[in-house]
Amino acid sequence: KQYNVALVGATGAVGQKMLETLEKKNFPIKELKLLSSSRSAGKKINFKGEEYTVQETTPESFEGVQIALFSAGGSISKKFAHEAVKRGAVVIDNTSAFRMDEDVPLVVPEVNEEDIANHNGIIANPNCSTIQMVAALKPLQEKYGITRVIVSTYQAVSGAGNLAIDELKDQSQAFLNGEDMKAELLPVSGDKKHYPIAFNALPQIDVFQDNGYTYEEMKMINETKKIMHAPELHVAATCVRLPFFTSHAESVYVEVGDENIEVADIQAALANADGVILEDDPSNQVYPTPLSAAGKSEVFVGRVRKDLDNKNGFHFWVVSDNLLKGAAWNSVQIAESVIKNNWL
Ligand code: A2P
Repeated sequence: KQYNVALVGATGAVGQKMLETLEKKNFPIKELKLLSSSRSAGKKINFKGEEYTVQETTPESFEGVQIALFSAGGSISKKFAHEAVKRGAVVIDNTSAFRMDEDVPLVVPEVNEEDIANHNGIIANPNCSTIQMVAALKPLQEKYGITRVIVSTYQAVSGAGNLAIDELKDQSQAFLNGEDMKAELLPVSGDKKHYPIAFNALPQIDVFQDNGYTYEEMKMINETKKIMHAPELHVAATCVRLPFFTSHAESVYVEVGDENIEVADIQAALANADGVILEDDPSNQVYPTPLSAAGKSEVFVGRVRKDLDNKNGFHFWVVSDNLLKGAAWNSVQIAESVIKNNWL
């Protein structure tokens, strides 16, 4: 069986990876609609050797569509997702627009695939930093129980879209030419001030909330509890943007339920987990990096250590391609699960 698929935000950084993923997974597509704003309407995009013309997104774009993948920003999802559902589509939304809505499943298939069954037309794809962290936490939660998580992130510019990728390139070029760096976008396009990302580190991703945390940090905190069905889990996050293009890295501290757990137990649980690859051999300097994870669909974990003071505490390093498992790959996995389980 084949399906009519629409891709909203087809020209964006995630949209391009969605196309790559649909092609790579040989997704059963009958008709494909590539949608964007009026700016990119008319642009040609190649998919599986065929040329497609990008169209402006309108409510009518979703007539006859069965699966709609959204990745054009929260405001676009708010404007069009219900229009797509009204016309019979299942929406898989990569933005934060509906993630915390009670009737919207928030899904990482390796962690909580069964939540998809309860959807009412919209299924949310979690934040990129959240996805890779919960993929690594899930096997530990299942085997040992977890009570507290403290994470610091090292995030690529591509998470902020194609314009942020260009900004890093332009600033790097300017810096190396001895010219002034122009900062017009990062840390957040809509915020009051902008700082250079090239040769820098910005401890702000998304806008600040009243409690002093950024929205990215609150996404990690709230989404983790929802996906893991653990409202009582203690989670704290610090999210930092760094000057590389692809993959997010995270330093994670986790407290497990049993003080007799050792590093080898944690490593074994991670090595056996779906979608997780353990790359952890300090004696041979083996650990994942943003470059080594780029272009791959798995979540890579290394540097597993026991805390020196807390017997229940462990530290590890988790890296994944933010545009693939963090966005496009996870969204298409959700679509595959919807089809496989007859949850359309
Ligand atoms: P467009 O190419 O027309 O601007 P990125 O995350 O890389 O910045 O990409 C954002 C994606 O969202 C692009 O595909 C962009 O299309 C799309 N987009 C932006 N604004 C709208 C809109 N008003 N309606 C539909 N798609 C939009």
